[in-house]
Amino acid sequence: MTGAAARPDRAAPPHDAPAAGAARVLVTRALPEAWLGPLREAGLTLDVIDQHEAPPRAELLARARGATAVWVMLGDRVDAELLDAAGPELQVVATFSVGVDHIDLPACRERGVLVANTPEALTEATADLAMALLLALSRRLAEGEALLRSGGWQGWGPQQLLGFDIAGARVLVVGPGRIGSAFARRVRAFDAQVHYVGRRRNLSLEDAIGARYEPDLDAALARSDVVSLHAPLTDETRHLLDARRLRLLPTGALLVNTARGPLIDEAALVAALRDGHLGGAALDVYEREPEVHPGLLTLPNVVLLPHLGSATHGTRARMATLVTDAITAVLRGERTANLVA
Ligand code: GLV
Repeated sequence: MTGAAARPDRAAPPHDAPAAGAARVLVTRALPEAWLGPLREAGLTLDVIDQHEAPPRAELLARARGATAVWVMLGDRVDAELLDAAGPELQVVATFSVGVDHIDLPACRERGVLVANTPEALTEATADLAMALLLALSRRLAEGEALLRSGGWQGWGPQQLLGFDIAGARVLVVGPGRIGSAFARRVRAFDAQVHYVGRRRNLSLEDAIGARYEPDLDAALARSDVVSLHAPLTDETRHLLDARRLRLLPTGALLVNTARGPLIDEAALVAALRDGHLGGAALDVYEREPEVHPGLLTLPNVVLLPHLGSATHGTRARMATLVTDAITAVLRGERTANLVA
């Protein structure tokens, strides 16, 4: 089967055409055998880059050559260079993420390469993590645990490590998509007042939990005790929270980011935390991962996690199924539900 012949948007093979044994799938990290099983059962040849960290760029480019499908991760940049290194056999790039900001979609489209991601599977896990971060930040869990482990705890104190109430807080959800809505439901269950900004209204969220739509981000920020980011990273959302907008937040506001680091100007965030304008930040994502702004590392009023949004056993297994379903479907000449390009 040649790449061109099997692309669904070109001369498509019959629906039940078996995936050819020659089709090679590049997998860019070591993964559990159970996750890879469906690809092997489909008769595909796997080339697994057997390491847990992102491979060096040169290795990625070299290993991509002649691949029919590539299973990539967030740290792998998929651009014209990689697509051209792979060559004309490449039919599908499947990413083990819902976000696709590491993939040049127009470059894929131009070459007739389909792109699949893992929507739905990670919604609840990521919303859980955002809620966990908010609770950790508002109730100063990391500081409390550090105090106790340091041996410095002298017993209960009336003013010790006082935090903030979630009940009654005005929580702004930026990006009321799947994950933003799931987070909104959670925080509403803690009796917060939920409002949201987004490209369009989410009437089902309004009906379900009484979330209030805010047409203007600046005005909404000025009315928020807590902001939680759930927007995708695009040219429009890069540095959505820049120095000016961070200053619109009321003094003492809390910020949670489980979406993408570059939504926030990290240097401006450090400045706003340092001078006490913001009450704290809880972050799972960073502007230049895996680097973290050194200023964040020294501040007590931040909670920092290493991009764990979807990191549960069940979620990652479901994401793997979406990826393997997408690859096998495309290589059979079928379209699959989770195609983004
Ligand atoms: C995680 O950040 C994802 O996009 O899946």
